[in-house]
Amino acid sequence: MVEIIQISDLHYKNDFREDCMENIINYINKKKPDAVVCTGDIAHKGRVSEYNGICEYLRKIKPKLLVVPGNHDVKNNGLIFFEKCLGPRRRKMIIDEKDTIIIGLCSSRDDLKDGEIGDEQLLWLAQQFRKPRRENRIIALHHHLIPIPFAGRKWSTVRDAGELLEFTQLYEIDLVLQGHRHVPCVWEIGSTIFLYCGTSSADKTRSDESPSFNHIILEKKNLEINVVSSDTLEKKVLFTRINGKTTYIRRRATRIEHILEKVPIWD
Ligand SMILES: [Fe+2]
Repeated sequence: MVEIIQISDLHYKNDFREDCMENIINYINKKKPDAVVCTGDIAHKGRVSEYNGICEYLRKIKPKLLVVPGNHDVKNNGLIFFEKCLGPRRRKMIIDEKDTIIIGLCSSRDDLKDGEIGDEQLLWLAQQFRKPRRENRIIALHHHLIPIPFAGRKWSTVRDAGELLEFTQLYEIDLVLQGHRHVPCVWEIGSTIFLYCGTSSADKTRSDESPSFNHIILEKKNLEINVVSSDTLEKKVLFTRINGKTTYIRRRATRIEHILEKVPIWD
């Protein structure tokens, strides 16, 4: 069994909630997951002062931490400071005792909002998933590959999202962790789960929800995903798959509900 906590879109220091960040750190250090994955936008404008500020918080996190750059992190040449503070823009984490590999990709491009993986990175990705084949195979990136309802933008912003989606099916990836739209959401394609994290420590939610993070437990092919409020630490189940049976718990009202309310009964 591997336990992962996903945080995202910390946005230091724009609408940044220090109380939420402290709550997250305390929660993580108490739960002691096998790994913490942060799916980008840690620094709001990519400035060195922002990196220094947020890294003070990140250093308090005791479990292993993997961070990927978001589109805000690369503003103002921020990728240079990202790599100075946190290491390479793309990296892997192996948890040998849990037979787990987590690959962090850089989907962000200098001064661009949209994302791209690129052929060279896809090739590198394929090399990481060569033998030995790990039981748990996870990819993390900032941008979303599949549109998310009620997230303020309705299309994918990764130019080569199709290639990465195909890759997840070819290599039987268990979990793809993403941020960017500040909305917790989950999609299932084949045996791959595409999970999105809300903004964990900023007042940048898309509707009336709280900043949040994801608590994930993956055991063989069983999976449980909880969304935890960074404000109150209240935990809600988002998704479970137990013995091949998927339960998708839709915990969030969306536009489609608003639209359907107005439709007369057709038959
Ligand atoms: Fe963001």
